[in-house]
Amino acid sequence: MLTSMLSDAETPLATPSGRFGISLGDLGKSRGLEIGCAFSGHTDPEYRLLLAHHCRLIVPEWQLKPRFLRPRRAAAYNFGPSDAIAGFAASNKMALHGHTLFWHEEPIRWARSENVERVKRDYGGFIRDVVEHYSQAVSWDVFNEIVGERQPLRDEFFVQTFGLQFIDHCLRITQEHAPSARLVINDYNLECGTDWSLAKQDHMLRLLEQIKAIGSPLHAVGIQGHLSSIHKASAPSTMRFIDRLADLGLDVFISELDVNDSTMPADIAVRDIEVAAYYEEFLTAVLSRQSVKRLVFWGISDFDHWVVRRQTREKRRSGKARPALFDDQFRPKPAFQAVTRALEGAPRR
Ligand code: G3I
Repeated sequence: MLTSMLSDAETPLATPSGRFGISLGDLGKSRGLEIGCAFSGHTDPEYRLLLAHHCRLIVPEWQLKPRFLRPRRAAAYNFGPSDAIAGFAASNKMALHGHTLFWHEEPIRWARSENVERVKRDYGGFIRDVVEHYSQAVSWDVFNEIVGERQPLRDEFFVQTFGLQFIDHCLRITQEHAPSARLVINDYNLECGTDWSLAKQDHMLRLLEQIKAIGSPLHAVGIQGHLSSIHKASAPSTMRFIDRLADLGLDVFISELDVNDSTMPADIAVRDIEVAAYYEEFLTAVLSRQSVKRLVFWGISDFDHWVVRRQTREKRRSGKARPALFDDQFRPKPAFQAVTRALEGAPRR
């Protein structure tokens, strides 16, 4: 009998033993790895049980983004939706990761100014308010996707106008108001073997060297890991990149792992095996590095997954997307067994 639907701030969800297989969170913990998942706040009780069983860390999927939290200077902070997700995490003894204090896709345009002191005051005030509200957060994506592919930094107002001074200020303000949180810079397309992905790795490494040189606080880099069936991930290139990050004293979080099966065969049995092999090959490679400390799935089930939601707009050859470890009825797919094998084979860190 499934535990009845509990509100976010009540007793933890208890999963009938064996229902969802070995807990990925427990398996990860035995390897010194944090296992987490993005969560949309969906109220389905089985979905919440699945998350509570497998995840030891939760990331609000969009409710902690700058524009969502405070779209206008005069607006009060829209903390309600992220409070609900934080309540679910707390009730189930899960850690909370804050994603994200800066993202060009969800900017706080009201903080824009040509005057750097005004930007420091306004953007710094936003960061202070948010990280103090979620003082329980164990880590923050201070920046999401600020590195460029064809140029060192993304063509975005704050980053282009103020550069390292702005980046340093945001990192220092975050540390000042969240002194025990690990600070992260997160980005995508760092795992492909293409020339533009290698260029992006170099741009990230240059930025990190500058950040370390001026003593800005930074603890980890998020490699999002949205594995594409179009631009195949390169395990060797990703491992070399992780090693160079380790040389800078930085940990790595695989921060948004999923497999987009858009160009894989339409046959579900064949496609599920291909998706599973992709997860296993990539994770076996990156988890061989002990500086990889966290693995977050950007959706654990096809039931509530951004790739599935988005596919209404996306041209697909292969029918309904099946990117996750569990299908839309929370049944384990070959990808779940594949991830379990990769975790079992990973060295302790
Ligand atoms: O469900 C609500 C609906 O109730 C509401 O009426 C509607 C209008 O506001 O919004 C709906 O929520 C949308 C949500 O996706 C679910 O569809 C949000 O508006 C929309 O912003 C949200 O998009 C998210 C996107 O980031 C932008 O924030 C995706 O869920 C999320 O998966 C995606 O995640 C990003 C990472 O942050 C960064 N890396 C790439 C990754 C995938 O794009």
